[in-house]
Amino acid sequence: MDFVISIDSQAALPLHRQVYIEIRQAILTGRLTPGEKLPSTRVLAQLLGVSRTTVTQSYEMLLSEGYLETSVGSGTFVCRQLPDELLNTAPIQAKLPANPHPISLSSYGERLIQGKFLHIPETDVEISFSYGRPAFDEFPIKLWRKLLSRHCQSSKSVLDYTYNSQGYQVLREAIAAYLSRSRAVKCNSEQIIIVGGSQQGIDLITRILINPGDCIAVEEPGYLSARRAFLSQGANLFPVGVDQSGLIINHLAAGIIPNIKLVYVTPSHQFPTGATLSLTRRLELLAWAKKSGVMIIEDDYDSEYRYGERPIPALQGLDQGNSVIYVGTFSKVLFPALRLGYLVLPPDLVPIFARGKWLADRQCSLLEQYALTDFITEGHLERHIRRMRSLYDGRRQTLVQSLSEHFGDTIKILGENAGMHLMVKFNTKLSDDEIVQRAALAGVNIGAASPQYLKDSPGSEFIFGYAELSHQKIQEGVRRLAQVILID
Ligand SMILES: Cc1ncc(COP(=O)(O)O)c(C=O)c1O
Repeated sequence: MDFVISIDSQAALPLHRQVYIEIRQAILTGRLTPGEKLPSTRVLAQLLGVSRTTVTQSYEMLLSEGYLETSVGSGTFVCRQLPDELLNTAPIQAKLPANPHPISLSSYGERLIQGKFLHIPETDVEISFSYGRPAFDEFPIKLWRKLLSRHCQSSKSVLDYTYNSQGYQVLREAIAAYLSRSRAVKCNSEQIIIVGGSQQGIDLITRILINPGDCIAVEEPGYLSARRAFLSQGANLFPVGVDQSGLIINHLAAGIIPNIKLVYVTPSHQFPTGATLSLTRRLELLAWAKKSGVMIIEDDYDSEYRYGERPIPALQGLDQGNSVIYVGTFSKVLFPALRLGYLVLPPDLVPIFARGKWLADRQCSLLEQYALTDFITEGHLERHIRRMRSLYDGRRQTLVQSLSEHFGDTIKILGENAGMHLMVKFNTKLSDDEIVQRAALAGVNIGAASPQYLKDSPGSEFIFGYAELSHQKIQEGVRRLAQVILID
C-alpha cells in the first residue's frame, strides 16, 4: 500500500507526534476518507523508517480521539462516524499552509493562469442545449467494440511505440481519400499527421509557428479554445469581424494589423455564428495570404453537416500557395472522447510537426487508430455521417420551428444551415446571466455567445446545440425558455 506522509527525524517534535499530526491532517482534509484502511503498524514503520513502537503510539492516540477504529482481524481504518464538522473535504490545498517557497512558473505557466479560463461544468439539468456534442445514443457502439476487439491483441504491433509520430500510415491514406472525396482537400497521406483532436493540432501549430508577440488574426466572435492556445504562447490577437458571409476579408486586408503571422478561420460553419465563408471571400483570403506570406489555419470542425446547401470546397483545396494548414477532428462525427483528429500540412512543415508530436506525446493510441481505419475503409464513417446528417437536420428543423412558434420575430436565428448548433439573438432587456439563470431554474441549460468575443459582446446571443436532443426535448426546452424569457 502506498501511503505518503512526511516526517523529519531532525525536528524537535517527537516522531510519534509527527506521524499522529500527519495522519490527522490527512483525515481532516479528506485525503484519507472514512472507512479507508490504513497500513499495519509494521508496514507503516517500514515505509517511514521508524520503529514500530512510534507508529503504534500514534495509532493509539488517533484511536483514543476517535479518528481511527479497529476491527479485530482486519486492521485499522479511518473512523466511519467522524463528525461531519471535523471533515473538510474541500480542495486539500485550501487547508495546507502557504508554501514558503512558491513554485515559480515559466512565462507559459503564467500565461495559462491569466484571464478567465472558461470551463463550463455540465449542470444537472433536464434539457441541455450545450453545443459541440454529437448524438451519443446513435453511435454504433457495438460495431466500434467489434473493431476494437478485432485489433486488441497482445502483440507488438498494438502495444509498442511505432517511432512514427505522424500516425498509422493506412489511416492517413484513408483520411486523405475521404478528404479528397468529401471536402475537395488536395493532399497525400504524407502531408497528414494524426493528432489528439483539433485542440492538440492547434496547440502544436501555435508552439511551432508562433513566438511571443507575434500577431494572429481571429474571427470575432470566434472559437475560445483556439484563442486560449494562441494566448498561451504569448501571441497578440486581432479580432476581425464576421457577417453572414463569414470573415470580412476587407478588414483583414486593410493592413491595420502589423506583422500578421497567422489567420485562424472556421470557414464551413463559422464558430459560433454559423456563417459560411463565401467562395468569393475564400479566393480573396487565399490571394491575400499568398501575397502577404501569412499562414491560414482552416478549422473544419463540423463541416460534414450541411443542410440543403451545396458544400463549398475547403480553403486548402483552393489554395495555390501552400498557405493553409487544415485542421480536422473526429470529435463531432464520432465522439469527442476518442481524441483523434488530423492536420493536413504543407509538405515542408511535416518533419517539424512530426518532431513536435513526438515530443508532446509520442503517438496517438494505436488500437483506436486501427479501429478507426477499418471504420473508414469499410464505409461505416460515411454511412454514419449520412444517417446523422438526416437525424440532425430533423432536430434542427424542430428547433427552428419551435423557436419561431414561441418567439416569433422577437428573435433572429443565425447559422442554421450547417453544423450541430445555431445561434439565436434575443430581443430582450434581460442580461445574459439572468437568461442563463432563469433557464436553469426551468431545467434548461443554454450558453451565451459572449465568452466567444475577444472584445465586447453585443449580448443577448445564445448558442443552441441540438444534435443530442430528441424532438420532444427540443420542443419542451424552447417552450420553457419562452415562459421565462418572454414574461418581462
Ligand atoms: C471551432 C471548433 N473547433 C474544434 C472543435 C473540436 O475540438 P476537438 O477536436 O479538440 O475535440 C470544436 C469543438 O467544439 C470547435 O467548436
